[in-house]
Amino acid sequence: MRILIGVTGCIAAYKACEVIRGFQKAGHEVSVVLTESAKEFVGEATFRALADGRVCSSLFADEDPIPHIALAREADAFLIAPCTANVAAKIAHGIADDLLTSTALACTCPFIVAPAMNVHMYDSAATQENLRTLEERGAFLIRPEEGYLACGDNGRGRFPDPEAVVQMTLEHMAEDLPLVGKRILITSGPTLEPVDEVRFISNRSSGKMGACLVQAALDAGAEVEIVSGPVPLSYDGRAKIRFVETAQEMMEAAKEAFPESDIAICAAAVSDMRPARAHEGKLKKGRDDDALGAIELVQNPDILSGLCQMKRAGQVVVGFAAETEDVVEQAREKLARKGADMILANLVGQGRGFGRDESEAWIVTEEGVTELGCRSKKEIAKAILELLSLNRAVEGDRA
Ligand code: C5P
Repeated sequence: MRILIGVTGCIAAYKACEVIRGFQKAGHEVSVVLTESAKEFVGEATFRALADGRVCSSLFADEDPIPHIALAREADAFLIAPCTANVAAKIAHGIADDLLTSTALACTCPFIVAPAMNVHMYDSAATQENLRTLEERGAFLIRPEEGYLACGDNGRGRFPDPEAVVQMTLEHMAEDLPLVGKRILITSGPTLEPVDEVRFISNRSSGKMGACLVQAALDAGAEVEIVSGPVPLSYDGRAKIRFVETAQEMMEAAKEAFPESDIAICAAAVSDMRPARAHEGKLKKGRDDDALGAIELVQNPDILSGLCQMKRAGQVVVGFAAETEDVVEQAREKLARKGADMILANLVGQGRGFGRDESEAWIVTEEGVTELGCRSKKEIAKAILELLSLNRAVEGDRA
């Protein structure tokens, strides 16, 4: 998941560095947004060295003219740690006069606030009311601890142990994850159909879409099993992974995993055909000219259709369609023909689609069409999982 950490101008700002490390150790990516005052305590360079995502503090310095919207969109959670009385007050009142507060207003993801300040500032009626307002609007508060404060006072206001802040944030996020208790099977990557022992028929699938789906499904709280063809990338280690080569192997593995799954997402670019026989050794020019000149092909099983035929009530199957024209129309036809519940339709050709990080996409279901536009594969995966989370068939039998 991508955690956005907001750092404000508080002596505890240095503890945000350890919070970043904590999230990274737990396998999450971190972006940072700083207020101008935060930079008086810890320099932007320190955060740049630590964070794996963006580190920014200005609404105007970035190449992106609307960085607060991009930051808000990318974030799976926004944690302000430490949060000063001033920033809590601004957010409670909808003031958006810098990058951090504008981002807070634009965020729709879980919002977590870890206030830290002098005991009297914390106890003041204004701060307490502002924090209550944030809580009533859905923010999760990580309360400061009691103890000696930087100013010499003793009382509530200390920023808690960074590890505890990470833990509480992750636990809070897990509570609300929409697909907790659900199992998702994802097919990904190309298949590889042997001609002989050294040659094969395959395609340009990179597995990137599958990897993004795996991440999005895990982030939504699901248990994930991947059946993948050979890909030059690594999947999130939290998923169960089974590598296969051929379409037939992929079919067997998918059929084995499907009965235990609530959702199957067939993102693999399965080769539609395979050589009728895989020759032993290597076919040689001169000796095997007939076999080299005419490789006899047979059709591969359609895994998506196969799973749809096995589908029992409550299970949901998602397919993909890569088309060069009439994308939505063809996706509708595929939805009906294969018996899927959802088709993610991509516009491909002319350099689009395969191997790229973004794609122009539509989500097609019986209920209608959602146009996603040109989005990163990460965002497309997130949109698919969001829709699956809302799906009544999935929601209906949740434990
Ligand atoms: O028919 P077409 O190949 O365009 O359908 C694409 C969708 O069907 C994808 O979801 C793909 O994973 C799936 N598929 C499959 N088995 C095949 C061919 C496609 O599961 N043999």
